[in-house]
Amino acid sequence: MIRGRIIATGSYVPENVVTNHDLEKVVDTSDDWITERTGIKQRRIVNAQQATSDLAYEAASLALKRAHYKPKDIDLIIVATITPDMAFPSTACILQDRLGATNAAAFDVNAACSGFIYGLHIANGLIKAGAHSRVLLVGAEVLSKVTDWQDRTTCILFGDGAGAALIEATKEKRGVYSTYISSDGSLSDLICLPGGGSRNPCSKETILKRLNYIKMKGNETFKVAVRTLEELVIKTLADNNLDPSQLSLLIPHQANIRIIQATAKRLGMPMEKVFMNIDKYGNTSAASVPIALDEAVQSGRIQDGDYVLLEAFGGGLTWASALLRW
Ligand code: ACO
Repeated sequence: MIRGRIIATGSYVPENVVTNHDLEKVVDTSDDWITERTGIKQRRIVNAQQATSDLAYEAASLALKRAHYKPKDIDLIIVATITPDMAFPSTACILQDRLGATNAAAFDVNAACSGFIYGLHIANGLIKAGAHSRVLLVGAEVLSKVTDWQDRTTCILFGDGAGAALIEATKEKRGVYSTYISSDGSLSDLICLPGGGSRNPCSKETILKRLNYIKMKGNETFKVAVRTLEELVIKTLADNNLDPSQLSLLIPHQANIRIIQATAKRLGMPMEKVFMNIDKYGNTSAASVPIALDEAVQSGRIQDGDYVLLEAFGGGLTWASALLRW
């Protein structure tokens, strides 16, 4: 049986660190409130010149280097992002050109924070179908440029970054064991960016109404996220006939430490087996899971043979999980 296997990862975050204390000078908030309610202590923010493809390029180049691959070895590039460089061409096409990956098809996936796992679902499916054999999957976001820095309920949450994975066809008994994706568009108004598309094209009015920034009903989203993720992780393990104790590491989307703790509690998993870096980067949407995966691999938290569960929840609404055997 052929399946996809992640053979290398890479990640990149901008140099500029913005702490909670920095944000105390921008909006009416406090380090204590942000830390207690979210687990975030700081986030990385791009400079004015950096765009999403620049971050994606750094993460992808590192993954290629670690795999000893040349860009021409790749036959498909998928970029998961809700903050593309521009409406079109896709950020994946811009990345393809920058890398010189001339043998690759390229497209973007828009599933907000679940985007990387959506991309993994697509990549693995195409590999299993025999359509592609070497896929570069990147989750990359520059949320800071669509964040309303006057809105204390959202601006404390987000950060910029990128994570990449190289996925190769294998006949080995390891790799992507299962993926699951789902959505509920009826709750699309919980997290959205209303301006700048064909519904509300960019105009003086959309700017004045601040429609060109992320809007989120945080508390409602929180409740749906906790309930959905608890069901999702239980279902993913059951589908794979696994007991939570057989999992070596849970890598959740880094949106809120309280959501992560609730999911771990539902699984009965000790927090030592849950990867967290939300304190350093905040919520980087589609980049969150691959950055965490890369840091887990590089720090030796994942060993050959380990079962690793990825999960995410985000705008759409969307949610997704993937079970990996490393
Ligand atoms: N500093 C100080 N006080 C604040 C701040 C702040 N930055 N933000 C809100 N408050 C206040 C509110 O005004 C409110 O005050 P009130 O009680 O006087 O009205 C109080 O704090 C509580 O506000 P809540 O919104 O109820 O706070 P909550 O505990 O829900 O935390 C948060 C808010 C952190 C946003 C949380 O709801 C959350 O994490 N939601 C889920 C986010 C998520 O998972 N999103 C999905 C992915 S994002 C994507 O897809 C792009």
